[in-house]
Formats: sequence, structure tokens, C-alpha cells
Amino acid sequence: MGLSGNSRRIPDAPPDPRVPDLVRRHAAHRFEKPIQAHNQSAFDWLSERIGLRPTVVIDAGCGTGVSTLRLADRHPKTWVVGVDKSAARLSRGIGYDAARIGHQRGRILWVRADLVDFWRLALAADWRVARQYLLYPNPWPKPAHLSRRWHGHPVFPTLLTLSRTLTLRTNWRTYAEEFGEALATVRRPYAIEDECGGDLTPFEAKYRASGHRLTELRVGAEPRSQAAPSTS
Ligand SMILES: C[S@@+](CC[C@H](N)C(=O)[O-])C[C@H]1O[C@@H](n2cnc3c(N)ncnc32)[C@H](O)[C@@H]1O
Repeated sequence: MGLSGNSRRIPDAPPDPRVPDLVRRHAAHRFEKPIQAHNQSAFDWLSERIGLRPTVVIDAGCGTGVSTLRLADRHPKTWVVGVDKSAARLSRGIGYDAARIGHQRGRILWVRADLVDFWRLALAADWRVARQYLLYPNPWPKPAHLSRRWHGHPVFPTLLTLSRTLTLRTNWRTYAEEFGEALATVRRPYAIEDECGGDLTPFEAKYRASGHRLTELRVGAEPRSQAAPSTS
């Protein structure tokens, strides 16, 4: 996908009324899909480097990985982990070598993995997530694709248990509003803001250049400080 400033806007729509029931249903059932071997390997690779029960910032669906570098500036004292399922995007952005399991620059690490497995592994391993960033997730705007949006997916309860704090950015306001409805269903407080400060990601820059309205949803305040990791 090119990153020029001519991207088409997705029209606003009312939040899908099925969201609360879907969230309740997912919260009531264990999500049992088996973990795929390559996701387990990626997670093990990370664990070997950052240890047991690490405190981390996660850039979930980091695309080219450029945003992970920017998030590391915002969170100077913790491990920062970028995860994306596309090796092509990661290699384009940060020179990720698809033949290897992961890529590390000091306290910043990237892996190619599917978040559906990655989040479940991180929760099972008791990771301490200082902040989870979901920057411009694929919107899947068709009604039939509701369960592909993160708040409509069976992994949503896992994501929330793992993430005391979270920042979501989107160029489709409906996505943020629905995500908010899903949070309200499980009584998690959140705030929605109409502006996103600074271009954190290539998609953000593209959407801004195309005149899109950018929305941020936040759960919890930005952490002030985290424990310094050892990068030896
Ligand atoms: C619209 S792009 C946004 C990328 C980046 N955050 C940005 O703003 O520039 C969405 C990204 O999410 C990734 N993605 C979608 N579903 C995923 C999944 N289940 N696991 C890991 N990555 C996923 C895609 O590969 C893609 O890079």
C-alpha cells in the first residue's frame, strides 16, 4: 500500500449494536484456538532476551516498525516490543530479516507474529504491560467483518486483561466509538479525543495528509516512569 496523501475516508456510521452482546459472549467463554508454532517461537525468542515477567510497552500491529522507535522515545525506561504479522512491512521499515525470528536494537525488539496468539502468550507469561498501543488497526468496516475488529474478536477479553492501559488510534471514528462501547460493556473507563498529537506512524502521516479525522481512545493515563531494563 502506498503512503501518499490520497487515501479514501471510511464514512462514519453508528456503532454496531451487536457489540455489547458479542463482548459479553466472548467474556463468558475461554478462547481455545491452538497457538501456532511460529508465534510460540517468536514469543520464546523475546522471552530469552527480556526475561520473565518483563515490564513492556507493546506496539501491536506495528506495520513497518517505525512507530516502535518513536514509542521508545516516549517510554525511555522500558522494553518496547513491536509485533506485526507482515514480514514484508517489517523488513521495509526496520530492515527485519525474514529468515530470522526477531530483530533487536537495544531495548527495542520486533517480532513477526500474530497478535491473537501473541497476546494470549503474554498474558499466560504474566507480562507487565506498561502501555499497549493499537495504532491504526485494520478497520474492517463491513458489518459482516465485525468479528475481525479487535473489540469484536474472541481475543478481546485477553487483550483487556493484559492491558491495564491502552492507546488506540484510528482514522475511522466508528472504530473508536465501538471500542469504547466494548469497554463500557465490561465497565472499563476510557476517554476519546478528537486529535492525535504528532505523527507516530506512517499510516497516521498518510491519513493526516489526506485530511482524515484522526481519533484517539485511551484507557488509563500515560505511565510516568518504568523500571530501567538491562540490555546486556
Ligand atoms: C493499517 S496497518 C497500520 C500499521 C501501523 N500501526 C501504522 O499505523 O503505520 C495495520 C497493521 O496491522 C497488522 N495486523 C493486522 N492483523 C494482525 C494480527 N492479527 N497480528 C499481527 N499484526 C496484524 C497488519 O499486518 C498491518 O501492518
